[in-house]
Amino acid sequence: MGDKTISIKHLVGLEGVSRDDIRIILDTGFTFREVLERPIKKVPTLTGINVVNLFFENSTRTRISFELAEKRLSADVTSFSAAASSVKKGETLKDTVQNIHAMKMDAVVMRHPVPGAAIQLSHFVDAVVINAGDGTHEHPTQALLDMLSLQEKFGYLEGLKVGIIGDISHSRVALSNIFGLLAMGAKVTLCGPGHLIPPHVSELGVEVNGDVDEVIEWADAVNVLRIQRERMGVGLIPSVREYRSQFGISLERLSRHKKELIVLHPGPINRGVEIDSEVADSDQAIILDQVLNGVAVRMSVLFHLLKPREEMEAA
Ligand code: CP
Repeated sequence: MGDKTISIKHLVGLEGVSRDDIRIILDTGFTFREVLERPIKKVPTLTGINVVNLFFENSTRTRISFELAEKRLSADVTSFSAAASSVKKGETLKDTVQNIHAMKMDAVVMRHPVPGAAIQLSHFVDAVVINAGDGTHEHPTQALLDMLSLQEKFGYLEGLKVGIIGDISHSRVALSNIFGLLAMGAKVTLCGPGHLIPPHVSELGVEVNGDVDEVIEWADAVNVLRIQRERMGVGLIPSVREYRSQFGISLERLSRHKKELIVLHPGPINRGVEIDSEVADSDQAIILDQVLNGVAVRMSVLFHLLKPREEMEAA
């Protein structure tokens, strides 16, 4: 582990990240999966490294997962929630971050509601920046954990057929998955209401198909996205019942297709809307594997972005 180095200095998104870099991160992710199965799950790799988690937007999985990954690597961890900070008194992102930077942090993990916030942050600080989700832009570690889960299930990504179903327009998970899966040679088809699929997305190299049954028939796996009511204006979906009937992944719908489809969901789940409980809790759903793989892949990202820095500074 760790003898290969990645070329990126920050992880602000998967757009432009090379196949070699993704392969190295995933391979090390599998190594950390094994560490997470051991009785003692902690390694001393990032001893003495300071990481701050800045969450300007709500999170359950990503925040816990990053904190756990940092602690498993023995980093010193500080967590910051915008709700309990001076951001509420009008402090700008730049001032908040420069103050934190003055405290000599080595890495900043940030979730922010504004698309591009992580890229902007990388210009303000010389710490390593890891994007934990920036508005509707990207969520690179989610896509990496999705790919780790798919690789674990199928044994390969090259040529794998993945459907991404739901509200593509408002989804940072969709965009990062598109960049990551295409870089790894997978085939991607997007499916959802026409007005929730960006018009020029096929220029990225994906297919678009509005018929969910055709996508299920074609795909090896589907990644089901939630309907992001908080990012939408009122009335973009005529009714939840109509959405469920047209695009919802129900047991009844899956049983019409005589195949073993693997189902992913990044969470949080709207049960009974984009996916039914019988599917989400079934053996064909790998949603909880995704959560465990999230810790492993975030350990890998932290390791590869921070270990070389530690060695450089020690030299
Ligand atoms: N998948 C995901 O990003 O979940 P959280 O919003 O709970 O972090």
